Amino acid sequence: MEKPSNPFGINYYLGPDYFCDREIETNLLLSNIAQQKHTTFFALRRLGKSALIHHVFHLLKKKRNQQCIYIDIYATQNLKDLTNQLANSIFSLFPEKKGIGKSFWDFISLFRPVLSIDELSGTPELSLDIAQPKQLEKTIPQLLQFLDKQKIKTVIALDEFQQILSYPEKNVEALLRTIMQQLKNTTFIFCGSNQAMMHEIFNSAKRPFYASCSSLHLEQIDRILYHDFIKKTFLNYRIKIQDDTIDYILDFTDGYTYYTQRLCHDVVELKTKQVNETHVNQVILSIYYEMKGIFFQYRNLLTPTQWKLLNAIAMEGNVSKPYASQFIQKYNLGSSAIVKRSLESLLDKEMIYKNGLAVEMHYAVYDKFLMRWLQRN
Ligand SMILES: Nc1ncnc2c1ncn2[C@@H]1O[C@H](COP(=O)(O)OP(=O)(O)O)[C@@H](O)[C@H]1O
Ligand SMILES: [Mg+2]
Repeated sequence: MEKPSNPFGINYYLGPDYFCDREIETNLLLSNIAQQKHTTFFALRRLGKSALIHHVFHLLKKKRNQQCIYIDIYATQNLKDLTNQLANSIFSLFPEKKGIGKSFWDFISLFRPVLSIDELSGTPELSLDIAQPKQLEKTIPQLLQFLDKQKIKTVIALDEFQQILSYPEKNVEALLRTIMQQLKNTTFIFCGSNQAMMHEIFNSAKRPFYASCSSLHLEQIDRILYHDFIKKTFLNYRIKIQDDTIDYILDFTDGYTYYTQRLCHDVVELKTKQVNETHVNQVILSIYYEMKGIFFQYRNLLTPTQWKLLNAIAMEGNVSKPYASQFIQKYNLGSSAIVKRSLESLLDKEMIYKNGLAVEMHYAVYDKFLMRWLQRN
């Protein structure tokens, strides 16, 4: 990989040199894959799930004894979309029409594939012509069986997996679970950003995926390790940054990955050789400037009570007892019934999240930049 112009990735994985820690999680995934154990994990958006998968895939590809398929199903709306995404990723593994590529092409020809060129990326896109629901149900199993028979170890990561709950077809879990049990060379990683939905899929005793996967826990990156990483990464780009300034950044972002990466990324873009708090503040202000339109739009989309509750949660940072009279009175929120309704609506819109187990359970504003902006206004 080439040296990137900015070492703090905010859009995609830049390679192991620009990736901070996650050693325990990486090793656990590698070990599960080596043992062909399926893994599932959940984490809040923008904490680093997709980057972790790309990191693990990068390490696996170097060893060259595994095929890796990464599929983000966030944009899929039904089983047909999922089937096409899978067909496409297999197709891109074997683009040449020889060897396995030839067998795949022969196999896929049964579905009258249509090839087109994606206008934005310029890459070929395959779409299968499957009209019959019965055939549609069989296609994913057939595609996976095809792969499995090639006797190449394959890892398939399905990112934003909770999306399958919104498909009109209600049997997708059962269908996937059944085929998974028949495969000998294929291991799965399922990850998602909606805790309640992922929990429903994997931890409900009544559902097909129950007890089928080992799980992994992803939290914020360890603060000390992130601190060292930031310092070292700046230095490698000949930029000096004081420890206090790094603490200032990590306090501001609460150590959440994307927000931390974004501040550091934008600071690098200032092209200064010696970074202090003033530079960080300058970057924060320009992010607010850029986001202000969206923040005001949120206000227009929410009811006044929802907006008030969002502000109250932002002011507190974390709220573990939103129905407590102390909280309700402090922010003049009316009654607990009103809070309950607004809270559910804010959760539903993903303006806030509910996170943590039992006593540590709390609510917080999802977007940390929005949270800081609200605290300021
Ligand atoms: N361990 C890490 N070190 C450095 N950057 C990271 C790390 N994890 C994630 N990132 C960066 O943070 C941003 C958000 O991560 P991403 O994987 O997209 O989050 P998620 O999939 O959980 O929404 C991305 O730009 C990614 O490159
Ligand atoms: Mg992601």
